[in-house]
Amino acid sequence: MAEKWTVTFLINRQKDGVEPHFESFQLEVNPDEYVLDAIERVWAFHDRSLLFRHACHHSTCGACGMRVNGVEKLTCITTIRSVTSDGGTVKVEPLRNFPVVGDLVVDMTRLYARMEMVKAPSVIPLDEAPKPDTSVFDIKPDHDAPDDMIRLVDCIECGMCVSACPVPLTTPEYLGPAVLAGAHLRGLDNNPSLLELVDGPNGVWRCHSAFECTAVCPSNVEPGWRIMDLRKQVVKKRFQRLFGRGG
Ligand code: SF4
Ligand code: FES
Repeated sequence: MAEKWTVTFLINRQKDGVEPHFESFQLEVNPDEYVLDAIERVWAFHDRSLLFRHACHHSTCGACGMRVNGVEKLTCITTIRSVTSDGGTVKVEPLRNFPVVGDLVVDMTRLYARMEMVKAPSVIPLDEAPKPDTSVFDIKPDHDAPDDMIRLVDCIECGMCVSACPVPLTTPEYLGPAVLAGAHLRGLDNNPSLLELVDGPNGVWRCHSAFECTAVCPSNVEPGWRIMDLRKQVVKKRFQRLFGRGG
């Protein structure tokens, strides 16, 4: 017989005109179910007004990112067993550093717009998309990729790195880890406007090197490493300019 645990889910409730607060729902769960399963059960059997996002249920769309017990997680692949114990509590909150639309849903418009500013991360023609065993570091930047190309699977634009990053809490203008990772993948060569953007006041130099972004990224994009590498590239470009070697 399947194992059963009794778990209390504390879920952020937040709507226009209502102060954010937590509501408590006690559920009997199989600990190998996912946190998203429990949230769906709360919606189905306890409160149909609960707002949350989900789509693929297999870590591909990036829609179900939330803070679970204070840590950014894709709730569709996070087992209840991995975040609590029998009789324990699971606190579920929306991502930080984004405006909250309601309950567990945030507005990602700013992230998407900034992704466009760097001409999307990883814009790669379908037939040149890397094979599953290709490391993201083997992907060559494509400086002239037209806009109608696909976005690569690596960054699923879940926003979890932005939520985990300490910088936007005080500097919302900071481009943020996902966008800078996109700029890195895009490449700085022959791209002076991108160089200006990442070397600007809200670019790579704002990063505190906390590497929280890399810790929570579910797709091995390694935004922290990419930001550090971008810094090296920016410094190299500055020297090249200084000595009249273009760039
Ligand atoms: S870099 Fe990783 S954590 Fe950030 S948006 Fe992309 S997939 Fe999500
Ligand atoms: S529902 Fe698509 S990543 Fe979780």
